[in-house]
Amino acid sequence: MKKTKISIIGAGNVGAGLGQRLIEKDFADIVLVDIVEGLPQGKALDILESGPIVGFSHCISGSNNYADTADSDVVVITSGAARKPGMTREDLLKINTGIVSSVTKEAVKYSPDCVIIVVANPVDAMTWVAYKTSCFPRSRVIGLSGVLDGARFATFIAQATNAPVTDVSCYVLGEHGAGMVIFPRLAKVNGIPITEILPKETIDTLTQRAINGGAEIVGLLKTSSAFYAPSAAVARMAEAIIKNTQEVLPCAAVLSGEYNLKDVVIGVPLKLGQGGVQEVISIELTPDELSTLAASAEAVKKQIDTITI
Ligand code: LAC
Repeated sequence: MKKTKISIIGAGNVGAGLGQRLIEKDFADIVLVDIVEGLPQGKALDILESGPIVGFSHCISGSNNYADTADSDVVVITSGAARKPGMTREDLLKINTGIVSSVTKEAVKYSPDCVIIVVANPVDAMTWVAYKTSCFPRSRVIGLSGVLDGARFATFIAQATNAPVTDVSCYVLGEHGAGMVIFPRLAKVNGIPITEILPKETIDTLTQRAINGGAEIVGLLKTSSAFYAPSAAVARMAEAIIKNTQEVLPCAAVLSGEYNLKDVVIGVPLKLGQGGVQEVISIELTPDELSTLAASAEAVKKQIDTITI
C-alpha cells in the first residue's frame, strides 16, 4: 500500500516548523524541499533524530530535488520571499508569482493527484497562481488564511474575556490581508456572540489587531514573519485532508458563484477531507455583510488581474 506523503516546499521557518509539527503527529512521511543545498537535508535530519525522543515512526527527509516529492498526497508551498517590516503582502505579489508558479509546475509534474496548500503571500493571489498553473480542479488548491487569522482573533477574544481559548469560536473570512473580513456576531464564547459580551470599542480593537496579526509579529521579530501559528494552521488543514475529517475550516479557495463571487480567491469556510475541498460552506450573510465580502474579493481580484502566468 502506498504510504501517505506530504511534501513541503521551502525549508524556512514555516516549512521546517510545519515538518516538525506534522512528523510529531505521525500520520505521514514528510519531504522537505529547498533550493539551498544542505538546508532541507540538515533540518530534516535534525527533526528525524528527535524521533526516538518524541516517539514517532514516520520518516522526514530533505531534498533539493522535486523527484523526491513524487506521489505526494499533499504539497505545501511555503517558498517565496517573506515580508520584511514595512512591506505589505502585496509588495510580495510580483516576486512570489514567479516563485509559486515555478514551484507548482515542478510539484504537479511529480504529484498530479495531490492537494496543494499555498502559504506564500499574498496568499489569496498566490492560491490563484497555483490554481491556474496546476490546472487542477479548484477542490485541490487551497490557501492558508482563516484558520490562522481566526486563531489570532480567538486568542485576543480569550484574553479580553478571560475565557479559555477552547471556549472561543469564530470565522474570519475574506482576504488574508488588509481586506480581512471579521463579523463579530460570528465570534462566540461558549456559544454567546461577543457582541453580547464585549463593548463595541473593545471588539473594534480586537478586530483591528487580528487584521494586523501578521504585521504585529513581523514588527516584533524584525527579520522574519510568523511561523509557530502559521505552521500549526497548515498542519491542521493537512490533517483534515489526509484523515478525511470533513471538518469545516476557513481557508482561501477559488469561488465559483458562492457568496455571489466567481473566479476569485478569498477565505471562506470549507469542508476539508479526502481530495481537498469537499464543499464550500455558505454561511447566511446579510446584504451588508455580502457587500463587505464582495469588497474584499474585489481587492484580491485587482491583484489577480495584474498577474500574468
Ligand atoms: C502571517 C503570514 C503567514 O499572517 O501571512 O503571519
